[in-house]
Amino acid sequence: MLSLIVAIGKNHEIGRKNQLLCHLPEDLKHFKQLTLSHPVLMGENTYLSLPKRPLPGRRNIVLTLDKGKTYEGCEMAYSIEEALRLCPPEEETFVMGGASVYRQLLPLCDRLYITRMLAEFPDADVFFPPIGPEWELVSEEPHPADERHCCAYVFQVYTKKSDR
Ligand SMILES: NC(=O)c1ccc[n+]([C@@H]2O[C@H](COP(=O)([O-])OP(=O)(O)OC[C@H]3O[C@@H](n4cnc5c(N)ncnc54)[C@H](OP(=O)(O)O)[C@@H]3O)[C@@H](O)[C@H]2O)c1
Repeated sequence: MLSLIVAIGKNHEIGRKNQLLCHLPEDLKHFKQLTLSHPVLMGENTYLSLPKRPLPGRRNIVLTLDKGKTYEGCEMAYSIEEALRLCPPEEETFVMGGASVYRQLLPLCDRLYITRMLAEFPDADVFFPPIGPEWELVSEEPHPADERHCCAYVFQVYTKKSDR
């Protein structure tokens, strides 16, 4: 099963200068709780943006077109097909970005874990694709801004509507 996890601003923005848009400690905790012990799949830019890499306690699958490249502690995939072959269908694998990988894999995902950051980031340079009507919002958990969180945010879960 393929899930996707992402934090999105009000204008669908997700990153700037190969970094996240803001530091939300509770979102990082949420990310860790959901992904720990599951395979995580990401593009090379996202992998290189991680402060601690590979992410511990998870199979790290990294996409690159450069067949000469390997990263210690990671499994490399040189195409989407190859990446998907590394994801056991009986296990939940998390697609964790960035923009180019979200664009390619959103249509193949079964579940989306979206953190809506209730703020705008005008200097963002990468964006999440539109979430179409095939997705159903099944849960929402709002959190206010506080001294550790620069903006309010909502944890959402979407599942793909089944064909009728
Ligand atoms: N808000 C969030 O939750 C969130 C989460 C993750 C990332 N981000 C942000 O997103 C930004 C990075 O996104 P991005 O789009 O620039 O980069 P990315 O998707 O992380 O990585 C792109 C790279 O992945 C490889 N790749 C992509 N598709 C491939 C394919 N089909 N086959 C083989 N390799 C493939 C290519 O690597 P090569 O160039 O080596 O061939 C490509 O250049 C950063 O700002 C990051 O902070 C935000």
